[in-house]
Amino acid sequence: MPYVHIPAMVHEVLQYLDCKPGKVIVDCTLGAAGHAKAILEQIIPNGFLIGIDQDKEAIESARDTLRRYSSNIELFHGNFVRISEALSAKRIDAVDGILLDLGVSLHQLKNSGRGFSFNKDEPLDMRMNTDSATTAADIVNNMSQEDLVNIFRVYGQERWARRIARAIVSVRSHKKIRTSAELAELVLKAVPKKHRYGQRIHPATRVFMSLRIAVNKELERLEQVLKVAVNLLKPKGRLCVLSYHSLEDRIVKQQIRLLEKGRSRDPYLQECICDGRASVVNLTRKPIRPSKKEIKQNPMARSARLRAIEKH
Ligand SMILES: C[S@@+](CC[C@H](N)C(=O)[O-])C[C@H]1O[C@@H](n2cnc3c(N)ncnc32)[C@H](O)[C@@H]1O
Repeated sequence: MPYVHIPAMVHEVLQYLDCKPGKVIVDCTLGAAGHAKAILEQIIPNGFLIGIDQDKEAIESARDTLRRYSSNIELFHGNFVRISEALSAKRIDAVDGILLDLGVSLHQLKNSGRGFSFNKDEPLDMRMNTDSATTAADIVNNMSQEDLVNIFRVYGQERWARRIARAIVSVRSHKKIRTSAELAELVLKAVPKKHRYGQRIHPATRVFMSLRIAVNKELERLEQVLKVAVNLLKPKGRLCVLSYHSLEDRIVKQQIRLLEKGRSRDPYLQECICDGRASVVNLTRKPIRPSKKEIKQNPMARSARLRAIEKH
């Protein structure tokens, strides 16, 4: 199955990363390598791209897609929080640009067979990295009702979180919930009748999104990588983040604000990670949105928001 994804806001990403020949760029979310290929076209012949993805299928497919640039790339399978490790493997201390294009790829949603979509009947897995331990089925079948409510409320902003969690606990008391179709059907039945059909989005949309966020610890990992990434930029280096929902965008916005004030602290260690000095310039006071034309051509890009910073 070809690995497909239409990259969002390519023109804007190239502009905000300030891609030029000879630059060294890290694409932390390689996916189908659409952004990576566009970046490589700008930075060759002597530029270099390090591509990271936690999905093995993405890495394998990108290796093929980017084969004509093989002397200008290094691909790394793993979580983007391990970005420093990926750079040290190539003996690189600092880079000119870092890209994060968050969320799932079209391939993961449609062709991965891992239950990311409520429109498919697939094992309820949702792991981007199939080496990691916990699947969506583990969460749905084992987590307490209260924890499920929290996941649906916090990560999905799901109005019917309690009803859905109660329905899950009731069904799983006599049989395991194993597939995406079983979960979608259960959610549909759990929401009040008048909210089941004719809604702008399918009633299971938010539950599926929240489970995906929980399985892949998406928000924790985002916060972690933002703290590390800025330290890996050269002076005038750029970080560019494409987020797709308000929870992600809020984390990016808050982190940029802290870095601008020179107050970004590790919440656990309580250490300043930028020597107490303002370390960045915010290049996007308001997030940049895709054009109407792009949204028409690629509806998956409709919720994209781009924010970018430049290191002092
Ligand atoms: C929206 S897609 C990126 C698409 C890509 N920019 C392109 O042009 O095709 C997001 C990708 O990031 C990967 N990903 C998400 N979170 C990650 C993380 N914490 N570490 C590494 N990869 C991650 C996913 O596996 C997925 O392949």
